[in-house]
Amino acid sequence: MEILNAFSDYEAAALQAINQAGDTDALEKVRIEFLGQKNGRIRDLQKLVGTAKPNEKPAVGKRFNEVRNSVSASLEAKAEHLKNSARQKAVSDFDVTLPGERPRIGQLHPITQVMGEFRELMGRFGFTVVDGPELEDERHNFEALNIPEDHPARDPLDNFYVACASATAGGPVLLRSQTSTVQIRTMESMKPPVRIVSLGRVYRPDTIDATHSCMFHQMEGLLVDRHVTMAQLKTVLSQFARSFLGPDVEIRFRPSFFPFTEPSVEVDMKWGNSWMEIGGAGMVDPNVFAAVGYDPEEYTGFAFGLGIERFCMKHFGVDDIRRFYENDLRFLSQF
Ligand code: PHE
Repeated sequence: MEILNAFSDYEAAALQAINQAGDTDALEKVRIEFLGQKNGRIRDLQKLVGTAKPNEKPAVGKRFNEVRNSVSASLEAKAEHLKNSARQKAVSDFDVTLPGERPRIGQLHPITQVMGEFRELMGRFGFTVVDGPELEDERHNFEALNIPEDHPARDPLDNFYVACASATAGGPVLLRSQTSTVQIRTMESMKPPVRIVSLGRVYRPDTIDATHSCMFHQMEGLLVDRHVTMAQLKTVLSQFARSFLGPDVEIRFRPSFFPFTEPSVEVDMKWGNSWMEIGGAGMVDPNVFAAVGYDPEEYTGFAFGLGIERFCMKHFGVDDIRRFYENDLRFLSQF
């Protein structure tokens, strides 16, 4: 039958062209020539199918499909083959003797390094490290710390209150403004004696400048036992500062006020010629003990809260606190 011969010629011509195509561009041309929807030679075959006599139609249609499928399968196989040989060529062009690129090795952020050292030093003084959440309720950030409702420290403008589901369910929620929250959480969960430190982030809507950031790190310390004294507080803090910065560091207490300590002091550190304020401290206020169910007649304690960035700046000679948060590798890789 003439039609079937035309099909076979088409198939043979297509397979030969596919065979000869040396790259994907040439192969694409072959595809368009033989299978193209618009002017491909497959259109002529389709027309031939239309001219077949009714009794020949089924055989012609079947053969048409066979031819078309076989050409398109050969095209696909050849495309796959060309892709693989291109890949193989790329691999064989790769020179394994070329010097490699040295991977950049990361390091801990200076603040993380200092926090690690602080934990280690305080561990040697017998303080256990505990953690607390950064998202807090008012009981732990204020109430149990003897900071009453009308205290200026609770002003919404001075705190980062957070709108979230648990805030609607269980009262206001805020980003903690101090790590003293962890004093409360610790005493709620254990009986005295207590000897803990907790290091982490705190948040305050301060105006940002060279020494202020709206997020910074504190180390909180709490020691509760029978007969704890202010002299012990001073000893622990000076020993700590000396171990970190060297034997020449001096500690000075200035009278101050915190709702959760009585008496309270501001702690200054002298290193070189100048005094630098490093945090607050004092004897735990009996109201705080009462809030966590400790007997204020039986137990005494001291607490302190130190600003970690201050130590970092002094230690590494950094003059602007903002450098710590800019993620500039030229800065960070120096530590
Ligand atoms: N929480 C106080 C602050 O952030 C510091 C402090 C801690 C003072 C513990 C006394 C006792 O300023």
